[in-house]
Amino acid sequence: MLREVVDYLMLVAHVVGAVLGLGGAAYLLMLLPAAVKLGGEPGRQLMAQAAARFKTLGIAATWLLLLSGGHLTFARGHFASDHALLLGVKIILAIAVIGMWHASSAQAERAAQAEGGTEPPLRLLRISLLLAFVALAIGTWISTGFAEAGRP
Ligand code: HEM
Repeated sequence: MLREVVDYLMLVAHVVGAVLGLGGAAYLLMLLPAAVKLGGEPGRQLMAQAAARFKTLGIAATWLLLLSGGHLTFARGHFASDHALLLGVKIILAIAVIGMWHASSAQAERAAQAEGGTEPPLRLLRISLLLAFVALAIGTWISTGFAEAGRP
């Protein structure tokens, strides 16, 4: 019973991590062009604040996803299942996505610096979102049992 409760809480933590990371990246993607359009000191401050908040959110999402994902991988036997390879692909994608979130907040912080800052990380955020949706789709595929459906 206790084991089921822990697994359930880990699944909730996993979904919360995915929502925070994906939601934060999507919102930053909308906010950065607005900050560029605003321009000058107010635009830079907006970008710097958004980058700092996304950095905190990204760290929280990373810990939630890695700890809960690691737990679920072993506790629910996915590691030794028929869909272990699919899960491996998802984990590699997820690690790339997490790296892109952290690189995006660092690049947005640099872009917010006065003259000589870099471009805001719009492309990186778009790619991270695309890959995160694929990771999400594979996760749901595994979680809902579709991966096994139809097998004898
Ligand atoms: C970008 C990062 C990630 C996203 C967006 C993501 C998203 C998801 C989603 C939406 C589910 C389905 C949950 C449900 O149906 O209730 C899931 C399941 C799963 N994820 Fe992730 N995930 C990510 C990273 C990871 C990582 C890093 C690991 C492993 C270390 C992992 C391991 C798993 C496992 C094992 C399941 C199946 C859980 C089960 O039903 O037993 N995920 N993931």
